[in-house]
Amino acid sequence: MFSGDRVQKALVIEAPATPFVLTTVPIPKPGPGEVLVKIIASGLNPADWIIQARDPFAINTTYPAILGFEVAGDVEEVGENVEGFSKGDRVFFETKSNHNEYSGFQQYALAPTEFLGKIPDDLSHGQAASISVTFSAAAYGLLPEDPLGAGLNPTFDDEIKFPGEAALVVGGSSSVGQYAIQILRYVGFSTIIAYASLKHAEFLKTLGATHVIDHTEVPFADLPVALHKIYPHPVKTIYSAITSVEAQDAAYASLSKDGKLIVATPQPVPRDGPDAAGRKVYGVFGSPYVPQNRPFGLLLWKHLPRLLQQGVFQPNRIEELPNGLTGIVGGLKKLEHGKVSGMKLVAFPQQT
Ligand SMILES: NC(=O)c1ccc[n+]([C@@H]2O[C@H](COP(=O)([O-])OP(=O)(O)OC[C@H]3O[C@@H](n4cnc5c(N)ncnc54)[C@H](OP(=O)(O)O)[C@@H]3O)[C@@H](O)[C@H]2O)c1
Repeated sequence: MFSGDRVQKALVIEAPATPFVLTTVPIPKPGPGEVLVKIIASGLNPADWIIQARDPFAINTTYPAILGFEVAGDVEEVGENVEGFSKGDRVFFETKSNHNEYSGFQQYALAPTEFLGKIPDDLSHGQAASISVTFSAAAYGLLPEDPLGAGLNPTFDDEIKFPGEAALVVGGSSSVGQYAIQILRYVGFSTIIAYASLKHAEFLKTLGATHVIDHTEVPFADLPVALHKIYPHPVKTIYSAITSVEAQDAAYASLSKDGKLIVATPQPVPRDGPDAAGRKVYGVFGSPYVPQNRPFGLLLWKHLPRLLQQGVFQPNRIEELPNGLTGIVGGLKKLEHGKVSGMKLVAFPQQT
Protein backbone atom coordinates (compact mmCIF):
# COMPACT_ATOMS: atom_id res chain seq x y z
CA MET A 1 0.00 0.00 0.00
CA PHE A 2 1.08 3.57 -0.66
CA SER A 3 0.46 4.68 2.91
CA GLY A 4 3.72 6.29 3.99
CA ASP A 5 4.31 10.01 4.56
CA ARG A 6 7.66 10.20 2.73
CA VAL A 7 7.77 10.77 -1.00
CA GLN A 8 10.04 9.60 -3.77
CA LYS A 9 10.57 10.28 -7.47
CA ALA A 10 8.85 8.01 -9.97
CA LEU A 11 8.42 7.75 -13.74
CA VAL A 12 4.69 7.59 -14.29
CA ILE A 13 2.34 7.06 -17.26
CA GLU A 14 -0.76 9.08 -16.37
CA ALA A 15 -3.08 7.63 -19.03
CA PRO A 16 -2.91 4.98 -21.79
CA ALA A 17 -0.33 5.65 -24.53
CA THR A 18 0.83 8.99 -23.05
CA PRO A 19 4.48 9.96 -22.40
CA PHE A 20 6.32 9.12 -19.20
CA VAL A 21 6.22 11.93 -16.61
CA LEU A 22 8.68 12.37 -13.73
CA THR A 23 6.66 13.03 -10.60
CA THR A 24 6.55 12.24 -6.89
CA VAL A 25 4.61 9.47 -5.19
CA PRO A 26 4.54 8.25 -1.59
CA ILE A 27 7.09 5.70 -0.41
CA PRO A 28 5.08 2.57 0.43
CA LYS A 29 5.15 0.65 3.71
CA PRO A 30 6.02 -3.06 3.62
CA GLY A 31 3.28 -5.46 4.71
CA PRO A 32 3.77 -8.88 6.31
CA GLY A 33 6.29 -10.98 4.38
CA GLU A 34 7.54 -7.96 2.44
CA VAL A 35 10.47 -5.59 2.47
CA LEU A 36 10.85 -2.05 1.21
CA VAL A 37 13.79 -1.85 -1.21
CA LYS A 38 15.76 1.29 -2.05
CA ILE A 39 16.13 0.79 -5.80
CA ILE A 40 19.72 1.21 -6.93
CA ALA A 41 19.35 -0.26 -10.43
CA SER A 42 16.37 -0.92 -12.66
CA GLY A 43 16.58 -3.04 -15.82
CA LEU A 44 14.69 -2.09 -18.99
CA ASN A 45 12.60 -4.57 -20.98
CA PRO A 46 10.83 -4.41 -24.36
CA ALA A 47 7.50 -4.72 -22.50
CA ASP A 48 8.12 -1.31 -20.89
CA TRP A 49 8.05 0.60 -24.17
CA ILE A 50 5.36 -1.64 -25.66
CA ILE A 51 3.00 -0.97 -22.75
CA GLN A 52 3.78 2.77 -22.75
CA ALA A 53 3.46 3.25 -26.51
CA ARG A 54 0.73 0.78 -27.39
CA ASP A 55 -0.91 -0.14 -24.10
CA PRO A 56 -1.54 -3.76 -25.18
CA PHE A 57 -2.54 -4.72 -21.68
CA ALA A 58 -5.12 -1.92 -21.42
CA ILE A 59 -7.63 -4.21 -19.77
CA ASN A 60 -5.19 -4.99 -16.98
CA THR A 61 -3.20 -1.78 -16.66
CA THR A 62 -4.44 0.65 -14.08
CA TYR A 63 -3.47 4.30 -14.46
CA PRO A 64 -1.49 6.19 -13.40
CA ALA A 65 0.95 3.34 -14.06
CA ILE A 66 4.54 2.80 -12.98
CA LEU A 67 6.44 0.22 -15.05
CA GLY A 68 9.82 -1.47 -14.58
CA PHE A 69 10.09 -5.22 -14.06
CA GLU A 70 13.70 -5.91 -13.00
CA VAL A 71 15.09 -4.41 -9.82
CA ALA A 72 18.20 -4.51 -7.67
CA GLY A 73 18.64 -2.50 -4.50
CA ASP A 74 19.14 -2.47 -0.76
CA VAL A 75 16.62 -3.51 1.88
CA GLU A 76 15.46 -0.30 3.55
CA GLU A 77 12.70 -1.57 5.84
CA VAL A 78 11.52 -5.02 6.86
CA GLY A 79 7.82 -5.91 7.31
CA GLU A 80 6.33 -8.29 9.85
CA ASN A 81 7.07 -12.03 9.66
CA VAL A 82 10.11 -11.61 7.46
CA GLU A 83 12.93 -14.08 7.99
CA GLY A 84 16.30 -14.18 6.29
CA PHE A 85 16.44 -10.56 5.13
CA SER A 86 17.68 -7.50 7.07
CA LYS A 87 18.06 -3.80 6.49
CA GLY A 88 21.03 -3.17 4.19
CA ASP A 89 20.93 -6.53 2.36
CA ARG A 90 21.69 -6.24 -1.36
CA VAL A 91 18.75 -7.86 -3.14
CA PHE A 92 17.21 -8.36 -6.58
CA PHE A 93 13.70 -9.28 -7.64
CA GLU A 94 11.10 -9.37 -10.36
CA THR A 95 8.30 -6.87 -9.85
CA LYS A 96 4.58 -7.55 -9.68
CA SER A 97 2.84 -6.13 -12.77
CA ASN A 98 0.06 -3.64 -12.29
CA HIS A 99 0.89 -2.87 -8.69
CA ASN A 100 2.66 0.49 -8.68
CA GLU A 101 4.12 0.17 -5.22
CA TYR A 102 6.02 -2.96 -6.41
CA SER A 103 7.33 -1.45 -9.68
CA GLY A 104 10.86 -0.64 -10.79
CA PHE A 105 10.80 2.83 -12.35
CA GLN A 106 10.87 4.66 -9.01
CA GLN A 107 13.28 5.04 -6.11
CA TYR A 108 11.69 2.65 -3.61
CA ALA A 109 9.49 -0.43 -4.08
CA LEU A 110 7.99 -3.27 -2.10
CA ALA A 111 9.10 -6.85 -2.63
CA PRO A 112 7.55 -10.06 -1.28
CA THR A 113 10.45 -12.01 0.23
CA GLU A 114 9.25 -15.32 -1.25
CA PHE A 115 10.45 -14.06 -4.65
CA LEU A 116 13.48 -12.09 -3.48
CA GLY A 117 17.16 -13.04 -3.82
CA LYS A 118 20.39 -11.80 -2.27
CA ILE A 119 22.89 -10.47 -4.79
CA PRO A 120 26.12 -12.46 -4.84
CA ASP A 121 29.09 -10.38 -3.60
CA ASP A 122 30.83 -10.35 -6.97
CA LEU A 123 27.85 -8.89 -8.85
CA SER A 124 27.00 -5.17 -8.95
CA HIS A 125 23.48 -3.85 -8.49
CA GLY A 126 23.49 -3.00 -12.21
CA GLN A 127 24.34 -6.56 -13.20
CA ALA A 128 21.75 -7.95 -10.80
CA ALA A 129 19.08 -5.76 -12.40
CA SER A 130 19.58 -7.67 -15.66
CA ILE A 131 18.44 -11.01 -14.35
CA SER A 132 14.97 -11.48 -12.94
CA VAL A 133 12.29 -11.25 -15.66
CA THR A 134 14.61 -12.20 -18.47
CA PHE A 135 15.91 -15.26 -16.64
CA SER A 136 12.31 -16.17 -15.76
CA ALA A 137 11.24 -15.94 -19.40
CA ALA A 138 13.89 -18.50 -20.33
CA ALA A 139 13.47 -20.69 -17.25
CA TYR A 140 9.65 -20.94 -17.26
CA GLY A 141 9.74 -22.16 -20.86
CA LEU A 142 12.51 -24.71 -20.46
CA LEU A 143 12.46 -26.14 -16.94
CA PRO A 144 9.01 -26.76 -15.35
CA GLU A 145 6.77 -29.65 -16.31
CA ASP A 146 4.09 -29.46 -18.94
CA PRO A 147 1.83 -27.52 -19.30
CA LEU A 148 4.09 -24.65 -18.14
CA GLY A 149 7.27 -25.67 -19.91
CA ALA A 150 9.36 -28.32 -21.60
CA GLY A 151 10.11 -30.09 -18.30
CA LEU A 152 13.90 -30.24 -18.61
CA ASN A 153 14.55 -29.74 -14.89
CA PRO A 154 11.49 -28.80 -12.80
CA THR A 155 13.30 -28.96 -9.44
CA PHE A 156 16.69 -27.33 -10.19
CA ASP A 157 18.35 -30.69 -9.56
CA ASP A 158 22.00 -30.03 -10.48
CA GLU A 159 22.48 -33.69 -11.40
CA ILE A 160 19.94 -33.72 -14.24
CA LYS A 161 21.82 -33.67 -17.55
CA PHE A 162 20.94 -34.44 -21.16
CA PRO A 163 24.21 -35.40 -22.83
CA GLY A 164 23.85 -35.91 -26.56
CA GLU A 165 20.85 -33.55 -26.81
CA ALA A 166 20.77 -30.55 -29.14
CA ALA A 167 18.87 -27.26 -28.95
CA LEU A 168 18.46 -24.11 -31.02
CA VAL A 169 18.06 -20.66 -29.46
CA VAL A 170 16.59 -18.14 -31.89
CA GLY A 171 17.74 -14.67 -30.83
CA GLY A 172 20.67 -16.07 -28.86
CA SER A 173 22.22 -12.66 -28.15
CA SER A 174 19.03 -11.15 -26.74
CA SER A 175 18.81 -10.87 -22.96
CA VAL A 176 16.34 -13.76 -22.80
CA GLY A 177 18.32 -15.78 -25.35
CA GLN A 178 21.51 -15.47 -23.29
CA TYR A 179 19.75 -17.04 -20.32
CA ALA A 180 18.17 -19.76 -22.48
CA ILE A 181 21.68 -20.72 -23.68
CA GLN A 182 22.98 -20.83 -20.11
CA ILE A 183 20.04 -22.91 -18.89
CA LEU A 184 20.58 -25.41 -21.72
CA ARG A 185 24.23 -25.63 -20.68
CA TYR A 186 23.11 -26.12 -17.04
CA VAL A 187 21.00 -29.13 -18.06
CA GLY A 188 23.93 -30.56 -19.97
CA PHE A 189 22.91 -30.28 -23.61
CA SER A 190 25.87 -31.20 -25.83
CA THR A 191 24.95 -29.01 -28.78
CA ILE A 192 23.53 -25.50 -28.31
CA ILE A 193 23.11 -23.57 -31.52
CA ALA A 194 22.46 -19.83 -31.31
CA TYR A 195 20.82 -17.89 -34.14
CA ALA A 196 22.41 -14.49 -33.55
CA SER A 197 24.73 -12.01 -35.19
CA LEU A 198 28.27 -13.28 -35.60
CA LYS A 199 29.78 -10.35 -33.70
CA HIS A 200 28.48 -11.97 -30.50
CA ALA A 201 29.71 -15.48 -31.36
CA GLU A 202 32.71 -15.57 -29.01
CA PHE A 203 30.70 -14.13 -26.13
CA LEU A 204 27.82 -16.57 -26.66
CA LYS A 205 30.29 -19.45 -26.64
CA THR A 206 31.39 -18.38 -23.14
CA LEU A 207 27.73 -18.81 -22.09
CA GLY A 208 27.47 -22.29 -23.56
CA ALA A 209 26.67 -21.93 -27.26
CA THR A 210 28.56 -24.47 -29.35
CA HIS A 211 27.65 -22.99 -32.74
CA VAL A 212 26.31 -19.67 -34.05
CA ILE A 213 24.21 -19.24 -37.19
CA ASP A 214 24.57 -15.65 -38.37
CA HIS A 215 21.09 -14.12 -38.53
CA THR A 216 22.41 -11.25 -40.65
CA GLU A 217 23.45 -13.75 -43.37
CA VAL A 218 20.85 -16.50 -43.00
CA PRO A 219 17.25 -15.24 -43.27
CA PHE A 220 14.53 -16.91 -41.23
CA ALA A 221 13.29 -18.85 -44.29
CA ASP A 222 16.70 -20.56 -44.62
CA LEU A 223 17.15 -21.35 -40.93
CA PRO A 224 15.95 -25.00 -41.06
CA VAL A 225 18.48 -25.80 -43.81
CA ALA A 226 21.32 -23.95 -42.07
CA LEU A 227 20.50 -25.78 -38.84
CA HIS A 228 20.49 -29.16 -40.59
CA LYS A 229 23.94 -28.45 -42.05
CA ILE A 230 25.35 -27.95 -38.55
CA TYR A 231 23.32 -30.68 -36.85
CA PRO A 232 21.95 -33.29 -39.30
CA HIS A 233 19.64 -34.93 -36.72
CA PRO A 234 16.23 -33.99 -35.32
CA VAL A 235 16.33 -31.00 -32.95
CA LYS A 236 13.81 -31.62 -30.18
CA THR A 237 14.19 -28.39 -28.19
CA ILE A 238 13.98 -24.88 -29.64
CA TYR A 239 13.67 -21.65 -27.67
CA SER A 240 12.67 -18.57 -29.65
CA ALA A 241 13.43 -15.28 -27.88
CA ILE A 242 12.32 -13.52 -31.07
CA THR A 243 8.54 -13.48 -31.10
CA SER A 244 7.66 -12.27 -34.60
CA VAL A 245 5.48 -14.63 -36.64
CA GLU A 246 8.37 -15.07 -39.09
CA ALA A 247 10.71 -16.13 -36.29
CA GLN A 248 8.14 -18.53 -34.82
CA ASP A 249 7.47 -20.07 -38.24
CA ALA A 250 11.20 -20.61 -38.84
CA ALA A 251 11.65 -22.11 -35.39
CA TYR A 252 8.65 -24.40 -35.88
CA ALA A 253 9.91 -25.50 -39.29
CA SER A 254 13.27 -26.37 -37.69
CA LEU A 255 11.68 -28.57 -34.99
CA SER A 256 11.68 -32.38 -34.96
CA LYS A 257 8.34 -34.18 -35.35
CA ASP A 258 8.25 -34.84 -31.59
CA GLY A 259 9.94 -31.59 -30.55
CA LYS A 260 9.11 -28.78 -28.15
CA LEU A 261 9.14 -25.14 -29.21
CA ILE A 262 9.14 -22.46 -26.54
CA VAL A 263 8.38 -18.86 -27.53
CA ALA A 264 9.01 -15.86 -25.24
CA THR A 265 5.44 -14.63 -25.36
CA PRO A 266 2.30 -15.71 -23.52
CA GLN A 267 0.50 -16.13 -26.85
CA PRO A 268 2.56 -18.01 -29.42
CA VAL A 269 1.20 -18.70 -32.91
CA PRO A 270 -1.24 -21.63 -32.50
CA ARG A 271 -0.31 -24.72 -34.51
CA ASP A 272 -2.63 -27.42 -35.79
CA GLY A 273 -2.87 -29.66 -38.83
CA PRO A 274 -1.27 -33.06 -39.40
CA ASP A 275 2.33 -31.94 -38.81
CA ALA A 276 1.42 -30.57 -35.38
CA ALA A 277 0.80 -34.05 -33.94
CA GLY A 278 3.67 -34.88 -31.63
CA ARG A 279 5.03 -31.36 -31.46
CA LYS A 280 4.33 -29.01 -28.58
CA VAL A 281 4.46 -25.23 -28.49
CA TYR A 282 4.83 -23.43 -25.16
CA GLY A 283 4.12 -19.76 -24.57
CA VAL A 284 5.78 -18.12 -21.59
CA PHE A 285 4.60 -15.69 -18.95
CA GLY A 286 7.78 -15.33 -16.94
CA SER A 287 6.26 -14.17 -13.67
CA PRO A 288 6.01 -16.03 -10.35
CA TYR A 289 2.98 -13.94 -9.36
CA VAL A 290 0.33 -15.70 -11.46
CA PRO A 291 -1.13 -18.64 -9.51
CA GLN A 292 -0.10 -21.40 -11.93
CA ASN A 293 3.51 -20.10 -11.91
CA ARG A 294 3.84 -19.80 -8.15
CA PRO A 295 5.19 -23.28 -7.21
CA PHE A 296 7.97 -23.13 -9.80
CA GLY A 297 8.61 -19.47 -8.90
CA LEU A 298 9.25 -20.43 -5.26
CA LEU A 299 11.82 -23.00 -6.42
CA LEU A 300 13.39 -20.59 -8.88
CA TRP A 301 13.95 -17.95 -6.21
CA LYS A 302 15.31 -20.58 -3.82
CA HIS A 303 17.95 -21.73 -6.30
CA LEU A 304 18.74 -18.74 -8.54
CA PRO A 305 20.87 -16.80 -6.00
CA ARG A 306 22.87 -19.98 -5.28
CA LEU A 307 23.43 -20.71 -8.96
CA LEU A 308 24.56 -17.12 -9.58
CA GLN A 309 26.90 -17.32 -6.59
CA GLN A 310 28.37 -20.55 -7.98
CA GLY A 311 28.87 -18.93 -11.38
CA VAL A 312 26.54 -21.40 -13.10
CA PHE A 313 24.63 -18.44 -14.50
CA GLN A 314 26.02 -15.03 -15.24
CA PRO A 315 24.11 -11.77 -15.73
CA ASN A 316 23.78 -9.97 -19.04
CA ARG A 317 26.41 -7.45 -19.99
CA ILE A 318 24.93 -4.07 -19.12
CA GLU A 319 24.86 -0.55 -20.51
CA GLU A 320 24.46 2.00 -17.73
CA LEU A 321 22.00 4.77 -18.59
CA PRO A 322 22.69 8.34 -17.39
CA ASN A 323 20.31 10.75 -15.60
CA GLY A 324 18.50 8.37 -13.28
CA LEU A 325 14.82 7.77 -13.98
CA THR A 326 14.68 10.26 -16.85
CA GLY A 327 17.36 8.25 -18.68
CA ILE A 328 14.83 5.44 -18.99
CA VAL A 329 12.88 7.35 -21.65
CA GLY A 330 15.83 7.44 -24.07
CA GLY A 331 16.76 3.87 -23.21
CA LEU A 332 13.29 2.62 -24.11
CA LYS A 333 13.50 4.50 -27.44
CA LYS A 334 16.70 2.57 -28.20
CA LEU A 335 14.91 -0.71 -27.43
CA GLU A 336 11.92 0.32 -29.56
CA HIS A 337 14.16 1.09 -32.54
CA GLY A 338 16.18 -2.13 -32.29
CA LYS A 339 19.36 -0.29 -31.25
CA VAL A 340 20.19 -2.63 -28.37
CA SER A 341 22.49 -5.53 -29.22
CA GLY A 342 23.59 -8.18 -26.76
CA MET A 343 23.20 -5.84 -23.76
CA LYS A 344 20.75 -5.05 -20.98
CA LEU A 345 20.03 -1.36 -20.44
CA VAL A 346 20.02 -0.41 -16.77
CA ALA A 347 18.94 2.85 -15.10
CA PHE A 348 19.94 4.11 -11.65
CA PRO A 349 16.89 5.75 -10.00
CA GLN A 350 18.80 7.31 -7.07
CA GLN A 351 20.72 9.46 -9.60
CA THR A 352 17.52 11.30 -10.57
N1 LIG B 1 6.88 -13.60 -21.92
C1 LIG B 1 7.73 -13.14 -21.02
O1 LIG B 1 7.63 -13.41 -19.82
C2 LIG B 1 8.87 -12.28 -21.45
C3 LIG B 1 9.76 -11.76 -20.50
C4 LIG B 1 10.85 -10.99 -20.97
C5 LIG B 1 10.98 -10.75 -22.32
N2 LIG B 1 10.05 -11.26 -23.18
C6 LIG B 1 10.16 -11.03 -24.63
O2 LIG B 1 11.31 -11.71 -25.09
C7 LIG B 1 11.77 -11.04 -26.26
C8 LIG B 1 13.25 -10.76 -26.10
O3 LIG B 1 13.42 -9.80 -25.08
P1 LIG B 1 14.88 -9.32 -24.72
O4 LIG B 1 14.80 -8.36 -23.60
O5 LIG B 1 15.74 -10.50 -24.57
O6 LIG B 1 15.25 -8.54 -26.06
P2 LIG B 1 16.56 -7.72 -26.42
O7 LIG B 1 17.73 -8.19 -25.64
O8 LIG B 1 16.25 -6.27 -26.38
O9 LIG B 1 16.73 -8.12 -27.96
C9 LIG B 1 17.71 -7.55 -28.72
C10 LIG B 1 18.46 -8.66 -29.41
O10 LIG B 1 17.60 -9.27 -30.38
C11 LIG B 1 18.43 -9.80 -31.39
N3 LIG B 1 17.70 -9.96 -32.64
C12 LIG B 1 16.91 -9.04 -33.25
N4 LIG B 1 16.42 -9.56 -34.41
C13 LIG B 1 16.93 -10.80 -34.54
C14 LIG B 1 16.81 -11.81 -35.52
N5 LIG B 1 16.08 -11.65 -36.62
N6 LIG B 1 17.44 -12.97 -35.33
C15 LIG B 1 18.20 -13.17 -34.23
N7 LIG B 1 18.38 -12.25 -33.25
C16 LIG B 1 17.75 -11.06 -33.42
C17 LIG B 1 19.52 -8.78 -31.54
O11 LIG B 1 20.62 -9.49 -31.97
P3 LIG B 1 21.89 -8.84 -32.71
O12 LIG B 1 22.19 -7.56 -32.04
O13 LIG B 1 22.92 -9.89 -32.50
O14 LIG B 1 21.50 -8.64 -34.13
C18 LIG B 1 19.69 -8.20 -30.11
O15 LIG B 1 20.82 -8.72 -29.42
C19 LIG B 1 10.92 -9.77 -26.42
O16 LIG B 1 9.88 -10.03 -27.33
C20 LIG B 1 10.35 -9.59 -25.02
O17 LIG B 1 9.14 -8.88 -25.03
C21 LIG B 1 9.02 -12.01 -22.79
